[in-house]
Amino acid sequence: MENETSSMEKKLSDEKVIVIDFGGQYNQLVARRVRECNVYCEIYSYKTDIERIKEMAPKGIILTGGPNSCYEKDAPSYSKELFELGIPVLGLCYGAQLMMLVLGGKVEKAPVREYGKTQVHVDSTSPLFADVAESTICWMSHFDYISKTASDFCVTAHTADCPVAAAECPDKKLYAIQFHPEVLHTVEGTKMIHNFVRGVCGCTGSWRMDSFVEESVKQIRERVGDGKVLLALSGGVDSSVAAGLLSRAIGKQLTCVFVDHGLLRKDEGDEVEAVFGANGDFDLNFIRVNAQERYYAKLADVTEPERKRKIIGEEFIRVFEEEAKKIGAVDFLAQGTIYPDVVESGLGGESAVIKSHHNVGGLPDYVDFKEIIEPLRDLFKDEVRRAGLELGIPERLVFRQPFPGPGLGIRIIGEVTAEKVRIVQDADAIYREEIAKAGLDRSIGQYFAALTNMRSVGVMGDERTYDYAVALRAVNTVDFMTAECAEIPFAVLQTVMSRIINEVRGVNRVVYDLTSKPPGTIEFE
Ligand code: XMP
Repeated sequence: MENETSSMEKKLSDEKVIVIDFGGQYNQLVARRVRECNVYCEIYSYKTDIERIKEMAPKGIILTGGPNSCYEKDAPSYSKELFELGIPVLGLCYGAQLMMLVLGGKVEKAPVREYGKTQVHVDSTSPLFADVAESTICWMSHFDYISKTASDFCVTAHTADCPVAAAECPDKKLYAIQFHPEVLHTVEGTKMIHNFVRGVCGCTGSWRMDSFVEESVKQIRERVGDGKVLLALSGGVDSSVAAGLLSRAIGKQLTCVFVDHGLLRKDEGDEVEAVFGANGDFDLNFIRVNAQERYYAKLADVTEPERKRKIIGEEFIRVFEEEAKKIGAVDFLAQGTIYPDVVESGLGGESAVIKSHHNVGGLPDYVDFKEIIEPLRDLFKDEVRRAGLELGIPERLVFRQPFPGPGLGIRIIGEVTAEKVRIVQDADAIYREEIAKAGLDRSIGQYFAALTNMRSVGVMGDERTYDYAVALRAVNTVDFMTAECAEIPFAVLQTVMSRIINEVRGVNRVVYDLTSKPPGTIEFE
């Protein structure tokens, strides 16, 4: 079996900028910003061999920040040769300091540490700062500073505490910036990155989603030939877009198996079927497995969260395996792996494994297939969404918020029953409807209703009730590792509360969860 993508993977764009990762927390952001300039970009570890970089012939190289001090023994480094290839290099923060040190400048602990939004004075005659205001707010985060630039470099920016906030050697196309243009707090950061990749590197900006779709379709056809492809379609953004792309490329050679485990949001199963099923918009074989009863039977009396997750995961494998067996051997198993999964799993370059992602790390061994195909492997989430729109997938699927694999199973505290699923589905549907009506659906990171395991006394009409409490959750988050409770206007919450109490049988109380992450997690189990 051939792992990863082969010929499919590369050649998506002739113009490539590479980001060399020194362990900075913003490495993916740098690549995303470059792609926002319509320039294709990939991330590689600082351990990547210079010969490999030469082979790739990038139009530009960006060195990221990192947590180390570049003058310390064993700190991540790169050979001087990188700066002598004639390829433009932009060093950011650690990358800037490293560039100076390697080329003969001096880096040391700064007398004043800079952190946060900082006023920076730039020389707008520098190509990097073309059209940038002479005094501009930038995001600083450094203990060390460049105390002496390498020879041939001139200083092009400074702050009150940092004499070399940027320096450059235009003849050699080398640029160093102490701050972080990739972070949105740097007000004109995108412009600076644009100036580098489109101006200094001379990229024309050919990386666009319409050409990605076109090129991918061609490559998929070449690779798959007349082979058969099997995809587990969850209805989530990534697998839906993968299905759309594969269907465009190979039509009925693709079979999608959609397992409805009865833990989806209200009407979600039907929505997925409406798009991908026989009367839908795509040419493919669609198999919907209604496995609700099976799941509820397995989950009866189970209350322990990890056990619930395990059962849901294992049952999925079983159902999928049964369907795969009916189909027989396939040539390719398709997966909706996306670029952050690849980077985080350490497969993008040689960087350390941050977390092994279920899509990338372990390949299923329960389906008879020869190769894996991952058509979205090079895309960031926002690009996956744009590709989805390009493919004609409806917006409500493309802009769907994250939904966990175990579904409502981990939003129902305690035992899962069909009745509880109905309650949480109805409450959640009302919540989503009102959030959308208030125009907040694209601005809140993730929001949903959950069913607590708490029943309490209430009064409705003149009658005593003893019913469940629904918890509403809404968080804003950048990376889902940390999150803050979202500030939903009180009037919206009140409307949601009143509609849930009135319209959802079995609920007499609605609470709003204020907990951030940490200490809470986003989901309840
Ligand atoms: P937590 O609850 O860990 O959630 O703060 C962080 C993000 O991950 C999603 N999540 C999952 N996604 N399978 C998934 O595909 C899972 O088992 C799973 N558990 C949590 C959650 O919705 C949130 O976006």
